[in-house]
Amino acid sequence: MIITIDGPAASGKSTIAKKVAKKLNYHLIGTGLMYRAAALQALLENIDITQKDQIKELIKRLQVSLSFSWEDGVERVLVNGVDVTKKLSTPEVDAYVSDVAKISDVREMMVERQRKLAKQGDVVVEGRDIGTVVLPDADIKFYVTASTKERARRRCAELAAKGHICDKQELEQDIMKRDKIDSTRKLSPLSKAKDAYPIDTTGKTIEEVVIQIMAIIKEKK
Ligand code: DC
Repeated sequence: MIITIDGPAASGKSTIAKKVAKKLNYHLIGTGLMYRAAALQALLENIDITQKDQIKELIKRLQVSLSFSWEDGVERVLVNGVDVTKKLSTPEVDAYVSDVAKISDVREMMVERQRKLAKQGDVVVEGRDIGTVVLPDADIKFYVTASTKERARRRCAELAAKGHICDKQELEQDIMKRDKIDSTRKLSPLSKAKDAYPIDTTGKTIEEVVIQIMAIIKEKK
């Protein structure tokens, strides 16, 4: 069984995906982390994103492995064998990742890897284009949203918990900017698959949303 959860930045989809995967005892694939790993590596190597050949070469040699620990609830990401998990949710990576993710060579290679990972079955795959492009034949699809204000509030709380300073209004602008890049790019833009269940998380707790999603899965299984 393949379950996809797509949605815009900070909509709560990765937290929800983690909880759903845990309840079902399924594998979890956070595809945003793969793009974040690519963006981080490009930043570390000072690669200018207009240099398409250099980016393509970087992705080719980039070995990203994802693992999820039920014990501490952390999705760990190793890049070329090094644990970079803590470096992936910084404001620097946030600001850079959407531009890296819209490069066609990057998407092609990432989508191929994501399909391979999903082949193991019993997976929850979370991202932007999973139900539409990566795994259009998935068994159950969800499209998770929340208002921009609520998403900025959540991302701010997340950053503050990690010791980063945040300005809610600035974050709101950043989120709108990322939404725009993600949903207007030519290749597999962020959009709801026709057969995805829409889930608006505004004003709801994560637990309420997980209950709603699990009820739909139970009905369809
Ligand atoms: O879900 P996230 O915020 O960690 O995603 C990081 C970026 O990666 C986001 O700006 C868009 C991109 N992304 C994508 O283009 N396609 C996906 N399937 C997942 C993420």
